[in-house]
Amino acid sequence: MRKTILITGASAGIGKATMDHFVRNNWNVAATMRNPENSGLNESASLKLYTLDVTNEESVKDALAGAIRDFGRIDAVLNNAGYGAVGVFEASTPEQIRRQYETNVFGTMSVIQAILPHFREHRAGTIINVTSVGGKVTFPLYSLYHGSKWALEGFSESLHYELKPLGINVKIIEPGVIKTDFYSRSQDFINNEALAEYQPYVKAVSAVMQQSGANGVRPEVVAEMIFKAATDGSARLRYAVGSPAPWLLPLRKFLPEKWFFAIVRASVEKGLK
Ligand SMILES: NC(=O)c1ccc[n+]([C@@H]2O[C@H](COP(=O)([O-])OP(=O)(O)OC[C@H]3O[C@@H](n4cnc5c(N)ncnc54)[C@H](OP(=O)(O)O)[C@@H]3O)[C@@H](O)[C@H]2O)c1
Repeated sequence: MRKTILITGASAGIGKATMDHFVRNNWNVAATMRNPENSGLNESASLKLYTLDVTNEESVKDALAGAIRDFGRIDAVLNNAGYGAVGVFEASTPEQIRRQYETNVFGTMSVIQAILPHFREHRAGTIINVTSVGGKVTFPLYSLYHGSKWALEGFSESLHYELKPLGINVKIIEPGVIKTDFYSRSQDFINNEALAEYQPYVKAVSAVMQQSGANGVRPEVVAEMIFKAATDGSARLRYAVGSPAPWLLPLRKFLPEKWFFAIVRASVEKGLK
C-alpha cells in the first residue's frame, strides 16, 4: 500500500524538494504550507495541499485532520518549516525573538503533539525533524537561530527514547549549507546601525555567510536523505547531509573547543581588518 508523508513548509526549498522526491517515489504527500493558493501546484490523487502555519494550532489540527481524512493514514511527518532570525542579538525585539522560537521550536512541538494520537493508535509512525548543522555547532550572528535548533536537537533526542516503545521513530536531519530562500527572502536580518560598535563585524561576517549560502548544496540532496530516513527501517537517529555537516560535526565532536572555535573564526571572520 502507498505510504503517506505530511510535510510542513512544502512551498519552497527543502520542503518542496522533499515533496517532489516522495511523489516521484510513489508516496502520497500531504503538502502543507502557509499559502497553498500561491503555490502554483496542482493537486492529484497522490498530492494534496493543506493550509498550515506552524504558529497557528488550529491550522495544524485542521491540516492533519484533512490529510488523515483524505489519505486514511499518515506514516511519516516531516517538520521542516523554519527560518533564521539572524544578526545582532542586542538589536532584536522581543517579537523577533519569540517568533523565532514560536516557529522553529513550538511550531514543531505543536505538529508532533497533534500527530501523536494517530501514530499511537497505529503503533507506528516516523517523526522527522529538520534541525541543522547549526543544531550542534554555532557561527557568529546566528545566536537566536542556533538556540532554536539546539533546542530541537535536545528535544528530539530525548523524545526518541519515549516514543520507541510505542513503535514511533524519531529522526533528525542535520543539513549543512543548502541553497534555498533561507539566505534571502526567508531571513529575518536583525541589525541597528546606531549600535556602531557592532557594524564592522556585522558587515564582514554577513558577507561571508551570504556568500556561503549562495554556494550551498542543492535541496534535492537533503530530500534524498530525508527519504532514506523515512524508509531505511533502521534505529539511526541522526542524518547529517550537505557540506559542511558531514565533516564539521565530527570535527566538533573530536577537537578541543579552543581549536574548533579557531577554525570557525578563521573561516567566517576573514574579512575583519
Ligand atoms: N538552507 C539551509 O542552509 C538550511 C540549513 C540547515 C537547516 N535548514 C532548515 O531547513 C528548513 C527548511 O528551510 P529551507 O532552507 O528550505 O528554507 P526556505 O526555502 O526559506 O523554506 C522555508 C519553508 O518554511 C516555511 N515556513 C516558515 N515559517 C512558517 C510557518 N510559520 N508555518 C509554516 N511554514 C513556515 C516557508 O513558508 P513560506 O513559503 O510561506 O515562507 C518555507 O516553505 C528550515 O527548518 C531551516 O532552518 C536550512
